[in-house]
Amino acid sequence: MKFLFASIILAITSHNAVAQTQQQPQWSLIDCTWPCANGADSCIITNDGAQCKAKTGSEWLIPAADKSPTYTGAYTHRPLEPCIPAPIPNLTHVNQGAATNAGQSVILFPMQSEVDKPLDEYLGNCDGGMYCSAADNDKTNPVCRIRLQPGSACASSNQCYSRNCENGVCVKKTEKRSSLRHY
Ligand SMILES: *[C@@H]1O[C@H](CO)[C@@H](O)[C@H](O)[C@H]1NC(C)=O
Repeated sequence: MKFLFASIILAITSHNAVAQTQQQPQWSLIDCTWPCANGADSCIITNDGAQCKAKTGSEWLIPAADKSPTYTGAYTHRPLEPCIPAPIPNLTHVNQGAATNAGQSVILFPMQSEVDKPLDEYLGNCDGGMYCSAADNDKTNPVCRIRLQPGSACASSNQCYSRNCENGVCVKKTEKRSSLRHY
C-alpha cells in the first residue's frame, strides 16, 4: 500500500496591512521655541503636547522646528520586542505665521521634512535594522519589526532599509545628481 503525502504550500502574506493613515503635516501651534527661553531646557514632546522643560531621562526631544523627535532613552535591540513610538499629539491647527504667545511657535506638524525619518506611526526607539510599528494591528502593543527590502509594500520610509518609501513601495534611494556640465 502506498501513501501519498500531499504537500501544501501556504502563501504567507504579510499581515502588515498598508494603510494610508498618516496625518498630513499642518501648520500647528506648539509650546516650544528653538532655542528654549531657558537655554538649559529642551523641547520635550509627549502625547499631551510639547513644552520647553529640563531633561530628566528617557524622553522624546524635538531638536529643531523641522526635525523629527529623537529618543534620549534606551533603544530596543530585538524584533518583536515592545518599543516606544514617537509621540504624535493633537496640536491646534493655525494659519502659517499666526501670532503666538511667548514660548510658542507655529510649525508644520507632524514633521515630514526629514524624508528618511518622518514623524509617523513607524518612528520609535528600535535599533537601526528595525522600525517601531504602532500602526494597524500593532497600535495597542507597538513592537520592533525588521525593516523591509526594496520591492516590499510600505506606508512609511521608516519601514524600509533604504529609508525610502515611494508610492507605497520600498525603493533604493536615487542619487540626486547635479546637472553640472563639464566643459
Ligand atoms: C488625536 O485625536 C484623535 C481623534 O480624536 C484620537 O484618535 C487620537 O488618539 C488623538 N491622539 C492623541 C495622541 O491623543
